[in-house]
Amino acid sequence: MLYNETLIRVAIDGPGGAGKSTIAKLVAKDLGIDYIDTGAMYRAIGLKLIRNNINIDDEEELEKVLMNTEIDFNEGCIYLDGIDVSNQIRTSEISMIASDCSKKKLVREKLVLFQREIGMRKSVVMDGRDIGTNVLKDAEIKIFLTADSAIRAKRRYNELLEKGENPDYNEVLNDIVKRDYQDSNRELNPLKQATDAILIDTSNMNIEEVAACIKGYIKKI
Ligand code: DC
Repeated sequence: MLYNETLIRVAIDGPGGAGKSTIAKLVAKDLGIDYIDTGAMYRAIGLKLIRNNINIDDEEELEKVLMNTEIDFNEGCIYLDGIDVSNQIRTSEISMIASDCSKKKLVREKLVLFQREIGMRKSVVMDGRDIGTNVLKDAEIKIFLTADSAIRAKRRYNELLEKGENPDYNEVLNDIVKRDYQDSNRELNPLKQATDAILIDTSNMNIEEVAACIKGYIKKI
């Protein structure tokens, strides 16, 4: 086994809006280790495809783009080819293309390799859809966060309101349901709870309660 015994890898998976990134950031800060948002990587690829007007089903073009794409994290920001795109990737359009991208073998191969390399080098809290089932199968702790879809949609709706946008609740809910279906039913590494993951339903919990619950599990190991 390649992993250093002192590494702690916390894998947090679950559907969109379950609170993964907020919780993962808090837990990482508490442990003093890095947080890696793998969804942001799929989003960054999606952004690049849109900006370059690439048809996602054109495998040749997709391969070329992937070969010439660099993704990096620094101090909580994601860089696409050296430019901070942390804000640009947080739109509904990018959410959907990220989900489309994540079905593609070429995209998954590149990103999963990168994610595994990070997990081999250092302790991390990594969140996504397939971290516990695929990327870091032997993570020291695996959490599957979920919540009722209506509650997840309400959280997302409130986030958009706070950003000064004018969202439509039903549209937000439809996007969530559509993406859940697509992410859970794709052929490659679909969203699924790992058999050894701890399930936490955050529907009736606040952020502090969820973070405390996860920290409790981590303390035990
Ligand atoms: O977590 P997010 O909403 O930022 O993720 C965007 C999309 O990326 C999501 O719809 C599915 C995909 N994704 C994935 O397939 N595997 C991951 N490990 C992370 C995200």
